[in-house]
Amino acid sequence: MKPVSLIQFLIEERRAGRINAELSLLIEVVARACKRIAVATSKGALGGVLGNAGSPGSLSMNVQGEAQKKLDVISNEILLEANAWGGHLAACASEEMEDPQPIPDMYPKGNHLLLFDPLDGSSNIDVNISVGTIFSVLRCPEHVTEPKVEDFLQPGTQQLAAGYVVYGPATLLVLTFGHGTHEFTLDREVGSFMLSRRDIRIPVDTAEFAINMSNQRHWEAPMQRYVGELLAGKEGPRGKDFNMRWVASMVADVHRIITRGGVFFYPLDAKIKAKGGKLRLMYEANPMAFIIEQAGGAATTGRERIMELQPTGLHQRVPVFLGSRGEVEVATRYHREA
Ligand code: AHG
Repeated sequence: MKPVSLIQFLIEERRAGRINAELSLLIEVVARACKRIAVATSKGALGGVLGNAGSPGSLSMNVQGEAQKKLDVISNEILLEANAWGGHLAACASEEMEDPQPIPDMYPKGNHLLLFDPLDGSSNIDVNISVGTIFSVLRCPEHVTEPKVEDFLQPGTQQLAAGYVVYGPATLLVLTFGHGTHEFTLDREVGSFMLSRRDIRIPVDTAEFAINMSNQRHWEAPMQRYVGELLAGKEGPRGKDFNMRWVASMVADVHRIITRGGVFFYPLDAKIKAKGGKLRLMYEANPMAFIIEQAGGAATTGRERIMELQPTGLHQRVPVFLGSRGEVEVATRYHREA
């Protein structure tokens, strides 16, 4: 098969009428920024990029009250800077910033809104485990020249594109425009993302689940029931043995699922109930849900389809169940019945 670069793929999508020139440019710019993040993460201690941002006595905190890693700050700046001048965006929003970032007046403005988690799983960076960037693209509402928070609060079904980049042994970009989910591998020698899997399909059934078991005692009853049944194995009501994996880096856990199937849960628990969940709707759950659904999987909060939620805040958190359709449906049914 003749190798297909990301640029060629984007041109084909434009010719097929699935994306316009501005969205194509946007994805090119995000992919280019992610190559720079890949370089920064791969330097490790030699690049002086490990550890927390700020000084030991005064750590830098993000809007969620979490200590920022140096690489969180660097990745955020790389994405903002790369996207400011191209004329394809009306505004950006990030996990690392309380409010949307307008496009500086000196540059032309476009019709798209970009949301991102610049470095998901960043607590893993100091121990050399995979981290990633997650992004979601929305259309800026018509006639809005200075987008505000409410302009971003569109359900996930309105996403025009979503993707993630995983910085692992290889750097991979996984992308959807709503016509299947596709994977690109960074060829470091050439400097291009090359198509490595077209139209990925997640198996409907699986025997592998991902969850942070240390929260078990805090879960709601339906989650206790569901995972209890998985752990009971062949002798239990599910009649088969299940394996468990938890990287604690959502991008890496999701990438395993779109590669060999599986199911991922970050459910509600008593510790995080007041916040609504752990993962963020706008730049974690929605883009991952779009990618997973386009690969034939399912994504719910345990009660509703994630992409149908009407967002109420830029940094809103939600429970997340996603992956192989069969298991997401069983776990969601238990929650609805309860
Ligand atoms: P962050 O973006 O703050 O690094 O959060 C990572 C997220 C997600 O990537 C992962 O699945 C989850 O947090 C892990 O949470 P626990 O540490 O509670 O297992």
